Amino acid sequence: MQIITSKQELTKQVEACKRQGKTIGLVPTMGALHEGHASLVKRCVSENDICFVSVFVNPTQFNNKEDLAKYPRNLNRDAELLSSIGAHFVFAPTPEEMYTAEEMSQTFSFDFAGLDKVMEGKMRPGHFNGVVQVVSRLFYLVQPDRAYFGEKDFQQVAIIHHMVERSTLKGTFGDLKIIDCPIVREASGLALSSRNERLSEAKKKTALAISQTLFQSREWAKTMPVSEVQQRVIDTVNAVSGLEVEYYEIVDQSSLLPAADFSHAIGCITVYCGPVRLIDNIKY
Ligand code: PAF
Repeated sequence: MQIITSKQELTKQVEACKRQGKTIGLVPTMGALHEGHASLVKRCVSENDICFVSVFVNPTQFNNKEDLAKYPRNLNRDAELLSSIGAHFVFAPTPEEMYTAEEMSQTFSFDFAGLDKVMEGKMRPGHFNGVVQVVSRLFYLVQPDRAYFGEKDFQQVAIIHHMVERSTLKGTFGDLKIIDCPIVREASGLALSSRNERLSEAKKKTALAISQTLFQSREWAKTMPVSEVQQRVIDTVNAVSGLEVEYYEIVDQSSLLPAADFSHAIGCITVYCGPVRLIDNIKY
C-alpha cells in the first residue's frame, strides 16, 4: 500500500491504473477509521481492481472551528488498518494541497434541490457545500468507477447521489456508481462513529439509549402515526440524563421531506451526548 500526499502523484497513479484498464474504487474518509469504514474498504477491495482511500479532514465542511480542531486524527493507525485489509493507495493531502487560499475561504455553491435545507443542512449551514466541494474534487482526481459511502450519514449519501445524477453534471464523472453501505453497529447497537472515540465507557453506555429507542420505534410505528412516533423518540431519548436531542425527523428516503406515513420513511436523529454530537438513523 502506498501513501500519497500530492495531487500530482495521485494523478500519476490514477493514469497508470486507467492505462492498464483497471477498475478503480474510492472510499472517501476523514480518517479516525473504525470497523464501519473497514466494511466500506473491504467491499471496495472486493469489487474493484484498485482501491483508493482518501483520509482528509476537510476544513470546508466544518461550520464549527472547535469541532474541526477536536476531530480525531491518526494517520499511522489508519494506514495500518487500511494496509491490513488490502487498500492499494491512501490519499492523505494537507488542506493547502487540496485547496487554494481562495477556495478555502470562499463559499462553494451548489444546487441541492432543497436536500440541504433540512436536518443536518439546517443545523450546520454550509456543511454540505463543503462536502460536495471535497467529494467532487476527489471524484475528478481519482476518476473512480465506484465510490462507497456509509448510510449513517444518510442525508450526505442522498446529496451525493443528487450531485452525480444532476442533469448538468451527468456524465462528468463517467459511469461512476455511488454504493450505499449499511450502518455498522457495535454488538450493543451503538452506531460506529469516529466521534465515539471522544466518549468515555460510561458515556458510551448512556449513548446506547439512542439506537435502542430507534429500534423500539419500529414497534411504535406499527400502531402510531408519524408525528406521535417522532415525538415519542425525542421524549424517550431526552429522558435519559446526559442526552439531548437536537432533532429527530421522520422523512421520505428520497425527498428528505417530512413523511406522511411509514412507507419509504427513514428517521434521522442527532443527539448531544455531553459535548459530543452523535447521529444515527433507522429505516421503517
Ligand atoms: O463522511 C465523511 O467522512 C465526509 O463527509 C466525507 C464524505 C469523507 C467528505 O469529507
